[in-house]
Amino acid sequence: MALPKRSYDVLVVGAGGSGLRAALELSKSGVNVAVVSKVFPTRSHTVAAQGGIGASLSNMGEDHWLWHMYDTVKGSDYLGDQDAIEFMCREAAEVVYELEHMGMPFDRNQDGTIYQRAFGGHTANFGEKPVQRSCCAADRTGHAMLHTLYQRNLALNTYFYIEWMAIDLIMDTQGACVGVLAMEMETGRYMILNAKSIILATGGSGRIFRSTTNAYINTGDGMGMCARSGIPLEDMEFWQFHPTGVSGAGVLITEGVRGEGGILLNADGERFMERYAPTLKDLAPRDFVSRSMDQEIKEGRGCGPNKDYVFLKLSHLGEETIMKRLPSIREIAIRFANVDPIKDPVPVVPTIHYQMGGIPVDIHGRVVSCDSDGRDVPVHGLYAVGECSCVSVHGANRLGTNSLLDLVIFGRSTARHVAKFVSSLPDIFPDLSPSAGEEAVDRVETLRSRSSGEGVHDVLSQIQSVMQDHCAVFRKGELLKDGVIKIMELADKVNNIFINDKSTVFNTALVEALELQNMIEVAKATMVSAEARCESRGAHARQDYPDRDDGNWMKHSLYFSNTGRLTYKPVRSRPLSVDSFMPKPRVF
Ligand code: FUM
Repeated sequence: MALPKRSYDVLVVGAGGSGLRAALELSKSGVNVAVVSKVFPTRSHTVAAQGGIGASLSNMGEDHWLWHMYDTVKGSDYLGDQDAIEFMCREAAEVVYELEHMGMPFDRNQDGTIYQRAFGGHTANFGEKPVQRSCCAADRTGHAMLHTLYQRNLALNTYFYIEWMAIDLIMDTQGACVGVLAMEMETGRYMILNAKSIILATGGSGRIFRSTTNAYINTGDGMGMCARSGIPLEDMEFWQFHPTGVSGAGVLITEGVRGEGGILLNADGERFMERYAPTLKDLAPRDFVSRSMDQEIKEGRGCGPNKDYVFLKLSHLGEETIMKRLPSIREIAIRFANVDPIKDPVPVVPTIHYQMGGIPVDIHGRVVSCDSDGRDVPVHGLYAVGECSCVSVHGANRLGTNSLLDLVIFGRSTARHVAKFVSSLPDIFPDLSPSAGEEAVDRVETLRSRSSGEGVHDVLSQIQSVMQDHCAVFRKGELLKDGVIKIMELADKVNNIFINDKSTVFNTALVEALELQNMIEVAKATMVSAEARCESRGAHARQDYPDRDDGNWMKHSLYFSNTGRLTYKPVRSRPLSVDSFMPKPRVF
């Protein structure tokens, strides 16, 4: 029996910052757009972003978009594509003012301008000294942004499918994407959402690791859908450890704490970052700070009974600053670490926070695969934005505040491109074959009907352990090799998972099982790409290959899950209008 179908000009999958920014732009331009979201939009993971959005507004001192660009290229360890980075940094001020005019409640200076704080890796005058570039709403910037964008979408009547899960892409015989098969969680009913263009905005997948700042919903759904459709995943070896997750709980303590003047201390009470990064100290980029912390702990200078964390001290900022600029951090520290940071330091460890890689896209957000001769092959009709995509503005290591920026910059620009694209098409919806969506329904129903096999939570926790133990802050060839074998064995287990709950009404066991099928795709791409990259660059630190190797490895990885093929494509090191920043040793 044919599946029910609804048709739109554009379908956005995901209602975080990038999905909502894209939907808003499309609704504004009069395009018929619908958004599918697993959770109520304002519960999307963007809500958890704390410290701010980067833009060289110069509100706190001189700043320039070219300095921001330089910091981003250097922060990326030269793997970022410089055309996309220039575009992002040039447009940053405009999108921040646009958010301000939408009503986003930024913190203010006395003169009414947006308050900006310092953040890791952001400098004035090409690395000379830290600069205050992060525009923030206390330590709840993502919360303020997400609510602003959702309200603006409501005002324009954007249509939302809330608590619907996208299961798989629907491709036509020419390889174009013409929709998704989605499932309503409340009822279990299926629906084909047919569209001239589909924008994936499904966020990250940090849940493949045991210790992460990511929400439970961050399961790499868009990446899983692409991998099953034969689309590669790019640069998945680059995972960011945020230096300050609460020890034991993983909950994020914003880098804004250090931006406001907080410092990291080892068991000797030493501000150890002065040794590792004499100029930027605690405000060096995250890969640098995380490795330094790991080193302190490994060399026996960790704090606590097991010497397995370091302290983040902020009491010297004073109660007034903490309550005004970092109120949620205080609550988090009290609730998850049982310390009041007004008096005591917070125990912190590097914790998985962000994937630099994702679905390969060009500067317009178009998904681009590659053929067996290494030529780009655009996937007609399919776009991706936000953390699930790799454009690549973050390269091998993202700077804090560039994530919220990436969401709104590319959410907006991709939507503008899509609006033009759909208006160039005939006024009919793409044809669907009579069997469209059936393969995806079969996958779900096979899973639901299996009466024995592997437990979902059991397999997930094994995946998380393998990722955490074999693909950590520091990596080694032998461990990675072993990690690949283990992840492939776990992939076989994922093919045989079963659930006890067979119902159709809010079957969260089924949703978790489907999420696991997406997570394993991300885990495979990560482990295989990491094992193959024999150099250290950004967040990928190999003890057996401690140096960056630009001669052999200045290139992006592309992993195809369906065939196991791993290939590479060049970094775009030519910016749009300025000179390239040439690779240099990264010292801070
Ligand atoms: O530390 C933070 O507030 C995180 C910001 C970011 O990842 O950009």
